[in-house]
Amino acid sequence: MGLAAIKDSSNIQLTDNGQLRHFLSIEGLPKALLTEILDTADSFISMEQQSVKKVPLLRGKTVVNLFFESSTRTRTTFELAAKRLSADVLNLNISTSATSKGETLLDTLKNLEAMASDMFVVRHSQSGAAHFIAEKVTPNIAIINAGDGRHAHPTQAMLDTLTVRRHKGDFKQLSVAIVGDILHSRVARSLIQAFTTLGVPDLRLIAPNTLLPVNVDALGLRVFNRMADGLKDVDVVIMLRLQYERMQTALLPSQHEFYQLYGLTRDKLKYAKPDAIVMHPGPINRGVEISSDVADGKQSVILDQVSNGIAVRMAVMSMTMGGQMTQQSDSLKRLGDEP
Ligand code: NCD
Repeated sequence: MGLAAIKDSSNIQLTDNGQLRHFLSIEGLPKALLTEILDTADSFISMEQQSVKKVPLLRGKTVVNLFFESSTRTRTTFELAAKRLSADVLNLNISTSATSKGETLLDTLKNLEAMASDMFVVRHSQSGAAHFIAEKVTPNIAIINAGDGRHAHPTQAMLDTLTVRRHKGDFKQLSVAIVGDILHSRVARSLIQAFTTLGVPDLRLIAPNTLLPVNVDALGLRVFNRMADGLKDVDVVIMLRLQYERMQTALLPSQHEFYQLYGLTRDKLKYAKPDAIVMHPGPINRGVEISSDVADGKQSVILDQVSNGIAVRMAVMSMTMGGQMTQQSDSLKRLGDEP
């Protein structure tokens, strides 16, 4: 799929006055809105230091986690985030649900709508699934994309940019390298959009040509095939998993060779700045894309990413719910104004 294959979802994501009402993709969202997500998430992190970690922002609301693809971190942190906002949370187990008996996605959704749900958190193997659902379900239900095929993973991009901002401060001075299976990575696609919008001046991609999108030049980023060149003096190194489940043909000679050339080891990390941080969205494959001593080393912020995921998801859930409520009261007002 080309990098621009899915249409801009900015309109459907925003209310008439520019508030977030769905969160489907980073594409088309203005810098001010991304910054508002980061600032709101920061305020939720401060809340985590308190003895009572709950706020009533989503009290009385029902959030349904609809994960059609496997997940550990994303699903559990969405659940925790919803609970910390005082929502009621339903986790639909797709493998034991009626979807496995042949019920269509739309029929499943219509039934969940009939239970007066307020928010669907959706992960699906098809690119565009969250967007499709946002177009088909009642407009009052907020849809949050928790990863669709290789298209987008916007909350991951926001928790990654939050982690970078908390460790490195402003984005304006930073050199950031994204390394590995960029071709199949929804994380990379959303991250590129987020870092570009937030103003990172030096964003680099490092991968063999077989793991780069064909139209990579159109992105206007610096692209490298060698770690020694691409990692030189960077502040942030983001490693990606080799996503075999999305590879139709063999794109690599062997895992061993990939590790030799692109695996992040202590030696290769020396090309980066001495205080560079190392990130990975997980699940990590030790000895495939990263060595254990780097993954567990003092420059690694991989577990911070997980903690920051809760705060970012709380921010996105509370902001979309706020947007939904404004949109509904505006629509009611408009109805009242009609002669
Ligand atoms: C990522 C995903 O699912 O896209 N993981 C995650 O959400 N933590 C990356 C991956 O699976 O490699």
